[in-house]
Parts: sequence; structure tokens; C-alpha cells
Amino acid sequence: MTNIAVLVSGRGSNLQAIIDSIESGYLKSRIAVVISDVGDAYALTRAKKHGIEAIFVNPKKFASKELYEKEILGVLKTHNIKLVLLAGYMRILGKTLLEAYKNRILNIHPALLPAFTGLHAQKQAFDHGVKVAGCTVHFVDEILDCGPIILQRCVEVKEDDTDETLADRILEQEHKIYPEAVKLFVENRLRIEGRKVKVIKS
Ligand code: GAR
Repeated sequence: MTNIAVLVSGRGSNLQAIIDSIESGYLKSRIAVVISDVGDAYALTRAKKHGIEAIFVNPKKFASKELYEKEILGVLKTHNIKLVLLAGYMRILGKTLLEAYKNRILNIHPALLPAFTGLHAQKQAFDHGVKVAGCTVHFVDEILDCGPIILQRCVEVKEDDTDETLADRILEQEHKIYPEAVKLFVENRLRIEGRKVKVIKS
């Protein structure tokens, strides 16, 4: 059973999708700990409701990103974590975590990467006038929203969409592809070859 840690900053609907996938038996893994950089993130409440250890690590208490990440790393090691999921975690990872968990950190991003990186990706796409938007699960590397892509899903932009209705429909797809990507990882079916991720058939 793969021990997973989920890093969050906010409402935690993607965390919930992973929890649900585990509880339904779709994902054969265990979330050992949820870590938030925001004290009142609803994601922490969701974790506790499901009996998962939920920890707030306050970045303001640390003099540098390195020290902050060393604290997180300590938590990950204590829980024997094999896979780290970023689920609405709104911080750029530094070397400390990236090197310790190379190719073992995944992120969900609400756009079809490499388009619309960074914050408010759905609004960026909507304001740009795209006809097709979507979401991406990718490995995390040192460049923001840039690591090798595991899965993507398209969402059509409708004439009467607002950036919010579009974001809602993208989120529905996020909740599907994140558990799918995690399943591929924990079943050891992903091979990174340069920028490409090959999926081994089951
Ligand atoms: C999700 O839409 C996720 O893709 C996005 O934040 C939201 C978190 O929602 N992440 C990013 O923009 C990262 N660059 P959630 O807390 O309900 O899962």
C-alpha cells in the first residue's frame, strides 16, 4: 500500500476526490497525512472528517523556504511517504522537497499545459478566448507547471460560459483525472522518458 501525503492550501475538493477514490476501493493507497500552509484551509477539516492526520505548517514561522520545506520533509519521512500530491497547494516547491522526492510529486493544474501556467489559469484561458480549456496532471519539477505530463482532459468553452462556470466544469474533470493519474503511479505504470510519460498497459 503506497503511503501518500497531500499538500493543500484551500477548499480541498481534489483532496476529497482522492479520499473518495480510496474509500470506494478504486485506489489501493492510503493518505497518511495532509499538510496545509494555510491554517484555516477547509481541506484540513475534510481530512480530519475521514480520520486522516491533518497538519498546518505555518510558513511564517520559518526564516527561509529551505527551513520550511525541511520541516515538511520531516513530516513526510515520519509517515514513510512514497508519493506527494499537490492539490491546490499554492506555493512553488524548492530544492529541498524536489530533490528528496524527485519524480514522486504530482500536481493538478486547471489548464491544458503548457498554456496558462500560474494563478487563475481558468480565467486566463477564458479571457484569452480559447474554445477548448481543460486540466493537466503532471510530475513536478523545478519549473512552475512544467514537468512531464501524465494526463490531460479537455473541456469545451460554451457561448454562455463565465470564467466561473468554466472553472466549475474544469474542476469536475480534475476530480476524474487526478485519481486516474494517482492510480497509474501507484500501480507503477508510468515511465518518464525525457518530456514524455509513457503509460504501461495493465
Ligand atoms: C484546483 O482547480 C487546482 O487545479 C488549482 O487550484 C484548485 C484547488 O481546488 N491548482 C492550481 O491552480 C495550481 N497551480 P481544490 O482546493 O478544491 O482542490
